[in-house]
Amino acid sequence: MNISIIGSGYVGLVTGAALAELGNRVICVDSDAKKITLLKKGKVPIYEPGLKELISVNVKRKRLKFTSSIKEAVGSSEIIFIAVGTPSLENGEADLAGIENVARNIAINMKGYRLIVEKSTVPVETGEWVKQTISTYIKKKVAFDVASNPEFLKEGSAIRDFMHPDRIVIGVESRRAAELLIRLYKPINAPMVVTDIKSAELIKHASNSFLATKISFINAVSRVCDLVGADVAEVARGMGLDKRISSSFLSAGIGYGGSCFPKDLDAFITISKKLGYDFGLLKAAKNINEDQKAFVIRKIKDALWIVKGKSIAVLGLSFKPDTDDIRSAPALDLINSLRSEGARLKVYDPQAMPKAKAVLKGVEFCKDAYGAVRNVDCIIVATEWQEFKGLDFKKVKKLVKRPLLVDGRNIYNPQVLKKLGFHYIGIGR
Ligand SMILES: NC(=O)c1ccc[n+]([C@@H]2O[C@H](COP(=O)([O-])OP(=O)(O)OC[C@H]3O[C@@H](n4cnc5c(N)ncnc54)[C@H](O)[C@@H]3O)[C@@H](O)[C@H]2O)c1
Repeated sequence: MNISIIGSGYVGLVTGAALAELGNRVICVDSDAKKITLLKKGKVPIYEPGLKELISVNVKRKRLKFTSSIKEAVGSSEIIFIAVGTPSLENGEADLAGIENVARNIAINMKGYRLIVEKSTVPVETGEWVKQTISTYIKKKVAFDVASNPEFLKEGSAIRDFMHPDRIVIGVESRRAAELLIRLYKPINAPMVVTDIKSAELIKHASNSFLATKISFINAVSRVCDLVGADVAEVARGMGLDKRISSSFLSAGIGYGGSCFPKDLDAFITISKKLGYDFGLLKAAKNINEDQKAFVIRKIKDALWIVKGKSIAVLGLSFKPDTDDIRSAPALDLINSLRSEGARLKVYDPQAMPKAKAVLKGVEFCKDAYGAVRNVDCIIVATEWQEFKGLDFKKVKKLVKRPLLVDGRNIYNPQVLKKLGFHYIGIGR
């Protein structure tokens, strides 16, 4: 099939490359001309395991190409995915200016039937607005459909998630749209939820909000563990074996971040309020997450007493392992907060350093974890990269000024570290 993806970011590029791999002809579009120039040169502007290879092989097969011209893409594609960003506005609402802009440009350039699919995460009823926008700006009288097909991939395992999803959700209003999307996804073996557009839009917001709430729940439990001297990792292990609960998203830590959970929670709270429902549960989940970061800072202060002038290493900058994405990463909040108190920060991340250099000023970027911990008063592990799990702590102990370790993701065995002479601070343990 002939497909276009408008917006070539984490979701757009993975979707484009994966759909090309499945045998379709795909055009990836982006308004960022620099990004398109890089992609045309065979360079991939983001780090996602396996993506570079998947793009390269499908470009060679002539199934995948890149352009900054929406006109070219709309002209030759029957299915057009919108995968632009939907960041938060200051009032918490999703900024849908990109979606509106793309809908208008699709309308202007449509010359025959087109199926326009929302891939971006959007508030319920966005489909209605997209339909109205296209009807308003359409030049020729041609038929079109709008559909919702939210994406559930996780950065770090995005290609596997796209190819082997737990489910595919399709929100449609016509048989034609349903048939096109069912045909497109036929090679993927996964349960398919074919429903109406509003329900599909809500499935995405509800899913992300549920996962974020689950993290906040275990973080709240970690606070009680901390007060009584229990171990939240043990509590989570005992809870997670219950199939109704499951162990995923049940790890206490310094809070969730990333480009999705914080903004999707905000957007869901805001749209619910607009529609007349006060989603107090999600507000609580959000507050717990914010407080968790403040709690970690308090723990660090309790251990250091005076933060000013202290040297602190932060290992991990990305919001989770196996990605270079630092959007709303808790590590950045910690760093900024400690810096504002006068600490000297030394940081290291296996993949996110280039992106972090663009936003973090006044910190020392180190070549590796051992370089970062050299001569510091405190180490904070903010992202659970595999590389950090395997650190040689005998070596670390010799390098640091003071063996104080804040395990922000509970990835180490406290007993082992204590035996090595570390002052170990975990979350809820
Ligand atoms: N990143 C994830 O893990 C993930 C997972 C599921 C869903 N989503 C959702 O998918 C959407 C995209 O997320 P992302 O992480 O890929 O964002 P991103 O910022 O990485 O990519 C968005 C791209 O869209 C481009 N763009 C913006 N406006 C445009 C326009 N008018 N025309 C053409 N291109 C335009 C930007 O230049 C950028 O390259 C969001 O709604 C997000 O919530 C993201």
